[in-house]
Amino acid sequence: MKEQLQKIKEKASAEIAAMSDAKALEDLRVKILGKKGELTSILKQMGQLSAEERPVIGQLANDVRAALEAAISEKSASLRAGLLEQRLKLEAVDVTMPGERRETGRRHPLNIVLEDLKGIFRGMGYTVVDGPEVEETKYVFDMLNTDEGHPARDPQDTFYITDKILLRTQTSSVQIRTMLKGKPPIAIISPGRVYRSDAVDATHSPIFHQCEGLVIDRKIRFSDLKGTLEIWAKRLYGENVKLRFRPHHFPYTEPSAEVDLQCFKCGGKGCPLCKGEGWIEMLGSGMVHPQVLINCGIDPEEYSGFAFGIGLERIAMMRYNIDDMRLLYENDSRFLSQF
Ligand code: DAH
Repeated sequence: MKEQLQKIKEKASAEIAAMSDAKALEDLRVKILGKKGELTSILKQMGQLSAEERPVIGQLANDVRAALEAAISEKSASLRAGLLEQRLKLEAVDVTMPGERRETGRRHPLNIVLEDLKGIFRGMGYTVVDGPEVEETKYVFDMLNTDEGHPARDPQDTFYITDKILLRTQTSSVQIRTMLKGKPPIAIISPGRVYRSDAVDATHSPIFHQCEGLVIDRKIRFSDLKGTLEIWAKRLYGENVKLRFRPHHFPYTEPSAEVDLQCFKCGGKGCPLCKGEGWIEMLGSGMVHPQVLINCGIDPEEYSGFAFGIGLERIAMMRYNIDDMRLLYENDSRFLSQF
């Protein structure tokens, strides 16, 4: 038994000395000193010893245990110190290295224009509302007085998902949703994406952005529409801007008008930006058609209102002199970093 103890001590001491990792060291401790360890199992055989041998072997066993425990704790401390040193070395910071320059993102021109629009209309008491891009035909067309058979519904121009569900072609659908949900007075704008099956070129994209506006209250007149859009245009392009209302047709407004801004580049003389016209078409608008009010449960004898739809790309392109719409979607940082 004496030899066994000596052997355990020698073998374990050598193993401990060779250890290089804390987990293996702990495993070794359990294997030798643990409840089912080698040393313990020897001690369990002490009963077989004579009365003279027992204290001698007992003493020896305790010495072996103490020696191994000391060796293990010493090794464990030195492993920990080594680990710390290693980490310090690994994570050392060279404060003399030059810093890393981080590129800051810029706001996208469409977002700049959108934030400006929201600011202008919020300032006039409008609420900004959101509407779904995957929309029902009844909100995009039917309830906007645009019945089946109307050319605006042409499936070639429109992304249909089912007969009755499509990607909205205009934000005007939010007019209907707003009127169905709340009672007048209503004053909202609703910016968002719209979809049309157009081939991509310098002025067309199958996905683009509009901002719808709707005001419904008692005694709303065409002059309110004109005044509102005049304030909007002046805030956006400066005090000297001039507006022109051109008669037009939209099924959901009566009367309807397209609104042009006098070209701010040439002052109306005609230049490449306005294609020699002197005026640039900016939006569609009009007085909400009585039938649309009726469709939404609003009495046209009591209430009237105006609506408008502005193309955001158009505004951004005009403002920043961008001659190709595709630049707005390509995310080329050389383009975007200019704003
Ligand atoms: N929805 C029209 C379009 O997509 C724009 C428009 C015209 C919106 C007249 C309106 C409106 O609210 O009254 O071209």
